[in-house]
Parts: sequence; C-alpha cells; structure tokens
Amino acid sequence: MKALLVILVLAAPALGANCQICHGRPDFKRVLPHGRTQSLFVNPAELAGSVHEGKACGDCHADITEIPHPPHTRPVDCTQCHFEQNTVGAPKGALYKQYRESVHGRGATAGNPHAPVCQDCHGSHHIGSHKDSTSQVSRVKVSRTCGRCHLEIFAAFQTSIHGVELEAGNPDVPTCTGCHSEHDIRAHGDPASQTHAENVAATCSVCHAAEGLMGKYGIAQGQVETYTKSFHGIAIRFGMRTVANCASCHGVHDIRPPEDPTSSVHLANIPKTCGKCHPGANVNFAQGKIHLKPQDPESGIVYYVSTFFKWLTISVICGLIGHILLDLFRQFRRRQTER
Ligand code: HEC
Ligand code: HEC
Ligand code: HEC
Ligand code: HEC
Ligand code: HEC
Ligand code: HEC
Ligand code: HEC
Ligand code: HEC
Ligand code: HEC
Repeated sequence: MKALLVILVLAAPALGANCQICHGRPDFKRVLPHGRTQSLFVNPAELAGSVHEGKACGDCHADITEIPHPPHTRPVDCTQCHFEQNTVGAPKGALYKQYRESVHGRGATAGNPHAPVCQDCHGSHHIGSHKDSTSQVSRVKVSRTCGRCHLEIFAAFQTSIHGVELEAGNPDVPTCTGCHSEHDIRAHGDPASQTHAENVAATCSVCHAAEGLMGKYGIAQGQVETYTKSFHGIAIRFGMRTVANCASCHGVHDIRPPEDPTSSVHLANIPKTCGKCHPGANVNFAQGKIHLKPQDPESGIVYYVSTFFKWLTISVICGLIGHILLDLFRQFRRRQTER
C-alpha cells in the first residue's frame, strides 16, 4: 500500500496535485495526542470557491517541498504574498502595516500564542471577501469570529440593541469592526484607538450624528451635539479623562434603548450610572433629560432660562446700539447749530 502511494506520488506531474492523493480522501484523518481526531481532508470545492482559486497547495504551504512530508509543517505565512508592495496581485495598501501595529499584531510578534494572525480571522481554505456572506469576516459573521476569543464581550454584545439588530440583518448598526476597525484594533488606553475615551464620541457620531440615518429609526437627533456642549464633552476635549464619554453612561457592549428597564440609562438606573463617578447621586441628580438642547421647548426650565437670557442679551445690545446712535445724532446736531 505504502509502496503504491510512493509510486503514485512520484508519477504525478506537479507536487500540488500530489497532495490530494492523501488529502483528497474524505475519510483522511489523524488522532491527536489528547484523543480527538482531526480531519485532514481538504475539499477542493472550498479552495475553488475562495479568493485564492487557482493557487496551488504549495503556494501557501511553501515549506512542503517533498513527499512524504514531515508530520509537522510550519504555519502558513500569508504575508509571503500579502505585503504592501506585492507584485502577485494581492490587495496593496496600509492594512498590513495597520495589522502589524495593532494590539493583535504586536501581541503575535511578542510571542503571545493567543493573539490572532491572519488566518485566525480569515480562515484557511475558504477565504472570501467581506462582501461574501459565507466569509468569516462578513458583517454578521465577524462578531462570531472575534467572539471565539472575546467570549464574554460577544455575549454582552449579542444582547445589545446593536447586536440584536445585526443578527436580524440590519445593515446600519455596527458590528465589532464598526467601532474597533478591522486591522487597526488597539487597546482603549492607546490614544490612537477609536475606543480611547477622547475618541468614543467621534466613533459613535459616524452614525449618531447622521441625521438621515437616525431619522429612519425615530431616534431623537443631536445626542452628539448636546454631549459636545455639555460639561463632560467640553472637559474631555481639554484632556480631562475622568469625565463621562458616551460609553460611560450607555455601557460599551451592552448598549440598550433608554426605555429598556435593563438599560444603564433607564430612569431607574440613572442614580447607579451617574453614581459611579458622582457618589451619592440620586434620581434627582439627573432629573430631566441628559441630552438637553436649550433651543428645544421640551427641555423645560432650561429652555425658558436660555430663551430669557437670549432675549435679554439681544435687547441689551439693541439698547446699547440705540444709545450710541442717539448720542452720535445729538453731537452731529450740536456741531451744526454751533457753526
Ligand atoms: C502520502 C500522503 C500525503 C501526501 C501526498 C501529502 N500529505 Fe500532508 N499529511 C499527511 C499525513 C499522514 C499528515 C498527518 C501527519 C501527522 O500528524 O503525523 C499530513 C499533515 C499535513 C498537514 C498538517 C501538518 C501539521 O503541522 O499539522 C498539512 C498542512 C499538510 N499535510 C499539507 C500537505 C500538502 C500541502 C501536501 C502536498 C504538497 C501534502 N500534505 C501531501 C499525508 C500526506
Ligand atoms: C490560501 C492559502 C492556502 C492554500 C492555497 C492551501 N492551504 Fe492548506 N491551509 C492553509 C492555512 C492557513 C491552514 C491552517 C493551518 C496553518 O495556519 O498553517 C491550512 C491547513 C491545512 C491542513 C491542516 C488541516 C486543516 O484543515 O487545518 C492541510 C492538511 C492542508 N492545509 C492541506 C492543503 C492542501 C492539500 C491544499 C491544496 C489542495 C491546501 N492546503 C491549500 C492555507 C492554504
Ligand atoms: C500565493 C500568494 C498568496 C498567499 C500565500 C495568500 N494570498 Fe490572499 N490573495 C492572493 C491574491 C493574488 C489575491 C487576489 C485575488 C483576486 O483578486 O482574484 C488574494 C486575495 C485575498 C483576499 C481577498 C481580498 C479582496 O479584496 O477581496 C483575502 C481576504 C486574502 N487574500 C487573505 C489571505 C490570507 C488570510 C492568507 C493566509 C492564510 C492569504 N491570503 C494567503 C495571494 C495570496
Ligand atoms: C485568536 C483569538 C482572537 C481573535 C479572533 C480576536 N482577538 Fe482580539 N485579542 C486577542 C488577544 C490574545 C488579545 C491581547 C493581545 C495582547 O495584548 O497581546 C486581544 C486584544 C484585543 C483588544 C485590546 C484589548 C485590550 O484592552 O488590551 C481589542 C479591542 C480586541 N482584541 C478586539 C478584537 C476584535 C474587534 C476582533 C475581531 C475583529 C478580535 N479582537 C479578534 C485574541 C483575539
Ligand atoms: C482581528 C481579525 C483580523 C486579522 C488578524 C486580520 N484581518 Fe484582514 N480583515 C478582517 C476583517 C473583519 C476584514 C473585513 C473588512 C471589511 O469589512 O471591510 C478584513 C479584510 C481584509 C482584506 C480585504 C478583503 C476584503 O474583504 O475587503 C485583506 C486582503 C485582509 N483582510 C488581509 C489580511 C492579512 C494578510 C492579515 C494578516 C497580516 C489580516 N488580514 C489579519 C479581520 C482581520
Ligand atoms: C458601539 C461600539 C462598539 C462595538 C459594536 C464593539 N465595541 Fe468593543 N469596545 C468599545 C469601546 C468604546 C471600548 C472601550 C471601553 C473602555 O474604555 O473600557 C471597547 C473595548 C473592547 C475590548 C477591550 C476590553 C477591555 O477590557 O479593555 C475588547 C476586547 C472589545 N471591545 C472587543 C469587542 C468585540 C469582540 C466586539 C464584537 C462582538 C466589540 N468589541 C464591539 C466599543 C465597541
Ligand atoms: C455603524 C453605526 C453606529 C455606530 C458606530 C453606533 N451606533 Fe448606536 N445605533 C445605530 C443604529 C442604526 C441604531 C438604531 C437601531 C434600531 O433601533 O433598530 C442605534 C441604536 C442606539 C441606541 C438606542 C437608541 C434607541 O432609543 O433605540 C443607543 C443608546 C446607541 N445606539 C448608542 C450608541 C453609542 C453610545 C455608540 C458608540 C459607543 C453607538 N451607538 C455607535 C448605529 C450605530
Ligand atoms: C452623562 C451621561 C451620558 C452621556 C455622556 C451620553 N449620554 Fe446618551 N443618554 C443618556 C441618558 C440618561 C439618556 C436617556 C434620556 C435622554 O434621552 O436624555 C440618553 C439617551 C441617548 C440616546 C437615545 C435617544 C432617544 O431618544 O432614544 C442615544 C442615541 C444616545 N443617548 C447617544 C449618545 C451618544 C452618541 C453619546 C456621546 C456622543 C451620549 N449619548 C452621551 C446619558 C448620556
Ligand atoms: C465616568 C465618570 C462619570 C460619569 C459616569 C458621569 N459623570 Fe458627570 N462628571 C464627571 C466628572 C469627573 C465631572 C467633573 C466635576 C466633578 O468632579 O464633579 C463631572 C461633571 C458633571 C457635571 C457638571 C459639574 C457639576 O458637578 O455640576 C454635571 C451636571 C454632571 N457631571 C452630571 C452627570 C450625570 C447626570 C451623569 C449620569 C447620567 C453623570 N454626570 C455621569 C464624571 C462622570
């Protein structure tokens, strides 16, 4: 049997085609040391339907140069083709550099065995563009792909308004990469991160400051504007990182509408939410609405006070200008009579 295999292998014209003599058998598997079996079958249809259709086995498994090959081969290095200036037709651009400098890339370089390399997110043989709904990096599936390692966060996200809507196929809500980006993922302590305290408002505002988009869901507009003008919003721009950003009040991965009793911004939970930073905060502490627009009559007392001061300012300025004009007119008349 073994002799026959060797003859078959030597007779075949190209090394790539040889692989399927063994790996093309659906029942080809091995027993791993801890007793589990691993299938070693490679379905040609997976590769054929992928972006790498037409690539030979050895293009990726470049260290396998003879058959039989050693039992353990090196992990595939995608960057042998995927690098900024490649000439093999793989996409060019900044994404490779972004990955290298991301928390994952740095972790992998530093030898963290749990940090993802390309194939952990993209898969191995069935690699598709993000537009392909069966791809691991498609909009809906990406949350599961990240969730394999970030399990608790995935679980929380699944219960959030964004997560529930994502599963329902809503194209407007963010998946993990909507807030973290795809390759440029950084820890929230890194000032260049989209999730750094000072950048959270900008990250949410991509959608929450888009009037057309929010109108579609009947969500009041202007949360970003009102936050930016609030004490918290101004202080954070001056580098005061202890103040609240959107996520301090709304939660990060478990964001829910204010009507939901389990939402951190539901009226009943506000004392607890504000109380994280304002000890002793009670319901009255946050009486009224948080996202106040002074120019909106719904804002109650704030509207009337702000409107009063607006008109007061206007009338004072008008009075002042009137006074100056009258004074000029009087001087002009006096000079005429003196002449
Ligand atoms: C003669 C049969 C045979 C042929 C031909 C063959 N392989 Fe294998 N391959 C095996 C066996 C057996 C294993 C399992 C090795 C073990 O765990 O002891 C394996 C394992 C592998 C692994 C997993 C290695 C690891 O480190 O876990 C890869 C990748 C692989 N083969 C790729 C290839 C490629 C690419 C080709 C063609 C260039 C090829 N094989 C041709 C028999 C074969
Ligand atoms: C686009 C690159 C690419 C091509 C082309 C490719 N592989 Fe792989 N293969 C991978 C990656 C990535 C893995 C995951 C393990 C790793 O990282 O090395 C893998 C894993 C494997 C394994 C281990 C078992 C498994 O499924 O995880 C075998 C066996 C294997 N490949 C055989 C083949 C054979 C045979 C061909 C040709 C028909 C082939 N590969 C073509 C990238 C490729
Ligand atoms: C032998 C060179 C080679 C290797 C190795 C390789 N790729 Fe590719 N890859 C390409 C080429 C060429 C394309 C462009 C295919 C096309 O557009 O038809 C491509 C396309 C892609 C795309 C789709 C790009 C798009 O815009 O749709 C992804 C994703 C991808 N590769 C990921 C990987 C991953 C992950 C690995 C490692 C497991 C890998 N590649 C290994 C050559 C390679
Ligand atoms: C293979 C497992 C794995 C996958 C898949 C994965 N991650 Fe990670 N992630 C890690 C590990 C491990 C770290 C810690 C890296 C280090 O610091 O060395 C990390 C770190 C992070 C951090 C920074 C955490 C901090 O504060 O330090 C963020 C944010 C993150 N990942 C988001 C994502 C997103 C979003 C995805 C999906 C697009 C994803 N991860 C996919 C394993 C994974
Ligand atoms: C933490 C997960 C993660 C890692 C690690 C990762 N990618 Fe990606 N990658 C993604 C996601 C998610 C997308 C989809 C982008 C989108 O939705 O526009 C993507 C998109 C791509 C694309 C463009 C294809 C497309 O669908 O538009 C290529 C090419 C690519 N990645 C290659 C790589 C290579 C090469 C590596 C390793 C150096 C790598 N990626 C590492 C998650 C990852
Ligand atoms: C609505 C935007 C948003 C979405 C969607 C989102 N995140 Fe986050 N994520 C954040 C923010 C903001 C932080 C920083 C939190 C902080 O400062 O403590 C964060 C922090 C993290 C961290 C670091 C946690 C830590 O303790 O430092 C990881 C890991 C992470 N997210 C993974 C994910 C994964 C996986 C998904 C998808 C299942 C996801 N995120 C979806 C906004 C988001
Ligand atoms: C990619 C776009 C996008 C991003 C980024 C995003 N959101 Fe959303 N968000 C939406 C959409 C769309 C809805 C409406 C979903 C629905 O009701 O079906 C929503 C719903 C909400 C709701 C519930 C509103 C209600 O009354 O129903 C809150 C609260 C919220 N988002 C807060 C945030 C915060 C805080 C951030 C940043 C950490 C953020 N969102 C980032 C698109 C986004
Ligand atoms: C100090 C705490 C706090 C901060 C900071 C904050 N919010 Fe809110 N947000 C609330 C509370 C409380 C509510 C519910 C009552 C209300 O609408 O005023 C709310 C309501 C919302 C709603 C739902 C409005 C509706 O009508 O359904 C959205 C969307 C929202 N906020 C987005 C954001 C975004 C985006 C940011 C950052 C730019 C942000 N919030 C910052 C406390 C906060
Ligand atoms: C992440 C922490 C954090 C959260 C959560 C938070 N705040 Fe603040 N807030 C601060 C800090 C820090 C200041 C600066 C002044 C101070 O220490 O009182 C401040 C200042 C203020 C101010 C203006 C100064 C003052 O003391 O009168 C108001 C009003 C306020 N917060 C209301 C709220 C309300 C209402 C909530 C809950 C919906 C809330 N904050 C949640 C950190 C936070």
